[in-house]
Amino acid sequence: MTSTIDAFRSTFEVEPGYLDWAAFGPVSAAVREEVAADFEMLGTGRASSIAHVAERQDDTCALLARLLGTVRDEVTLQPSATYGLMHAVYGLSGGVLASPAEFPNIPTVITRAADAFGRVRPQWLTASEGFVTPDAVADALAEDTVALVVSHVDFRTGYRADLEALREAIGPDRLLIVDAVQSFGVVEADWQVADVVCGHGYKWLRAGRGTGFAWFGARARAAIQPVLSGFRGAEGGMTVDSVPPPASSAQAYTVSGSDAMLPARLAVALAAVEAVGVAAVEEAVAERTARVIDIAQRHGIPVVTPLDPARRAGIVSLAPESVAALGAELANRGVSVTTRSGTVRVAPHAGTDDETLGLLDEACAAFAQQRS
Ligand SMILES: Cc1ncc(COP(=O)(O)O)c(C=O)c1O
Repeated sequence: MTSTIDAFRSTFEVEPGYLDWAAFGPVSAAVREEVAADFEMLGTGRASSIAHVAERQDDTCALLARLLGTVRDEVTLQPSATYGLMHAVYGLSGGVLASPAEFPNIPTVITRAADAFGRVRPQWLTASEGFVTPDAVADALAEDTVALVVSHVDFRTGYRADLEALREAIGPDRLLIVDAVQSFGVVEADWQVADVVCGHGYKWLRAGRGTGFAWFGARARAAIQPVLSGFRGAEGGMTVDSVPPPASSAQAYTVSGSDAMLPARLAVALAAVEAVGVAAVEEAVAERTARVIDIAQRHGIPVVTPLDPARRAGIVSLAPESVAALGAELANRGVSVTTRSGTVRVAPHAGTDDETLGLLDEACAAFAQQRS
C-alpha cells in the first residue's frame, strides 16, 4: 500500500493551533476506529475474534522491524519507552555515559540502576547547550565506559544527535542506546548503527499511550543481562512448574502481556507511516519547522534549536526574553505549546496547517509589539 503525503496530511483532524506534538500526539481517527472495532470483538466471547485482536501483536512487531531495519525477533513491545530503557540499563555492568540534561528518564534510570545493583557506574558528560555531540562524548569516554545513552532528538532543545558520528566516537565495542521518542516515524535514520532503540507511539505516531517498544540488537543481547525478565520473557514462553532461562531473543526483555488493543493501535499508526514513507513525513515536518523558525526570527525571538535541518527534527525551542509574555499571547489565540525552563517549545507535525502557523505568527507579532 502506498499513500501520498497529502493523503497522510488529510488524516490530521486536530483543532487549529495545535503545536505540541512533542508532548502528545492527538490520536488519529484510524487508531480510534481500530480501538472501537477491537473492543467490539473482545466483547463477543468468540475465540476467533479474541485471537484476531491478539494476533495484531505480530503485525506490530513486523512493522517495527521493517521501520528499524531489523527482524521481528529483535523487537519487543513495552508499556512505554522508559520500560525499554530500564531493561537495557539495569542489565549493564560498567560505566554508562549520558548527559544529565537529557529527558529525566535517562538520568533517573542510570541513577536507580547504580543505586540498586551497584554494577552501573554513572558517567555524566558535559554537553554545551545540551547538545550531545561526538566531541562531547569523545571527551567524556573512560576506559570502563560500556554504553552511551542518548536521545536521538533532545526534548528540550530539539537538537538531533548524529548517530553515525556517535557510533564512531564510542567505537564498535561499546553499546549505543538510543531514546527515539522524539524522532521515530518522523526522522529517517540508520537505526542499525545503534544497539538498542526505545520509543513509543503516543506523540509523533498518534497511537495513544501504552504503545512503547524497544529493539535489542545482537550485541546488546550478548551484553545486557535481562535482569527484569518476567514470565513472558522466558525461553519457550509461559511455563508452569519450572522457571526456564530468559529467551535468547529480545523477548527476554519483557515482563508480562499487555492489553491486546495496545499493539493493534500501534500497528495501525505504523502502517500509516509506512504507507507514505518516513522520508516524506520528515520532509513535511522539516518544511514546517523551517517556517516556525522563520516566524520566530522575523519577530526577533531567539531560536535555541540548531538552524541546520540535519541537526533538528520536529522541535523548535524559542528563548524569548519573557516566556510568560509569549506564552500568554499564544494561549490567548488557542495555540498549544510547552513552556518550560525558560523556553517555549513549538512542535509542528506533517499535518500542521497554514491556519495554525498563522496563529503562531500573530502571537509572535503581538509579543514583539509589546516589547518595542
Ligand atoms: C525524549 C523523551 N524520552 C522519553 C519520554 C517519556 O517516554 P515514556 O512515557 O514512553 O516512557 C519523553 C516524554 O516526553 C521524551 O520526550
